[in-house]
Amino acid sequence: MKVVLINGQNHKGSTYHIGRILAERLADVEAIKEIFLPRDLNHFCLGCYSCIQDEKKCPYFEEKKGIEEMMLEADVLIFTTPTYCMEMSAPLKSYFDLFYQYWIPHRPREYMFHKKAVVISTAAGAGTRSAIKSVIRNLTWWGVPFCMKYGISVGASKWDEVSERNKTKIEKDMDKLSRRLKKAKAGKPSLMIRFMFGLMAKAKKSSVEGAYDANEAAYWREKGWLDGKKPWNCIAGMTDESKSPS
Ligand SMILES: Cc1cc2nc3c(=O)[nH]c(=O)nc-3n(C[C@H](O)[C@H](O)[C@H](O)COP(=O)(O)O)c2cc1C
Repeated sequence: MKVVLINGQNHKGSTYHIGRILAERLADVEAIKEIFLPRDLNHFCLGCYSCIQDEKKCPYFEEKKGIEEMMLEADVLIFTTPTYCMEMSAPLKSYFDLFYQYWIPHRPREYMFHKKAVVISTAAGAGTRSAIKSVIRNLTWWGVPFCMKYGISVGASKWDEVSERNKTKIEKDMDKLSRRLKKAKAGKPSLMIRFMFGLMAKAKKSSVEGAYDANEAAYWREKGWLDGKKPWNCIAGMTDESKSPS
């Protein structure tokens, strides 16, 4: 199994350690890749909308391509974020903004419709629930069919300060989570995802030449999605075709 850890922080605190414990229960060390934010994609979306016309025109296209490669190859995506002001961290939010084109209304990737994901957040006291919910909302709109979550109030600002009792609990919880993850199949996306996909297919079908989303409609047509093909049914979702344009 291949795992990529997408860390919404550069430092290796409580949240990172929990993600790493889980990753090592799922995969051999050499099969684990790590992304740290903002270190590995240190930008904010400029709101230029170039990606709507042509993804290659995103000023950060080349950097994103390398990251996309890692996400494409992984069987499991683990997102970690400390809870900041009851939300995901700003670098992780920025990451989702920069991958805006993955959203179902734009240029969704087939391979996302086959992924398993886990979202992990820690807080000193409260707020992991809302932080995790925001991350899962993004993954849902990417088409990810299977998301697990883990939130814990660690009562600490550093991993070293986390009590032995909490660390033992975390180890046990990661044992359970990894067992469930290994057994689970990604499965078909939820009814909501399938419904939204159908709705967008209709919208793209009625897009006319010169419309702002005409290039996106061409992408959908090329995939066969305007003729009834579904990304969750095709194994081609795992091939090179589903990547960013090279
Ligand atoms: C900017 C900032 C905002 C925070 N907001 C919250 C919060 O809303 N709720 C909370 O319980 N803890 C909050 N904390 C504390 C961290 O979420 C908590 O210490 C977390 O476990 C740190 O994870 P880390 O060790 O991975 O950095 C905040 C910390 C920082 C630096």
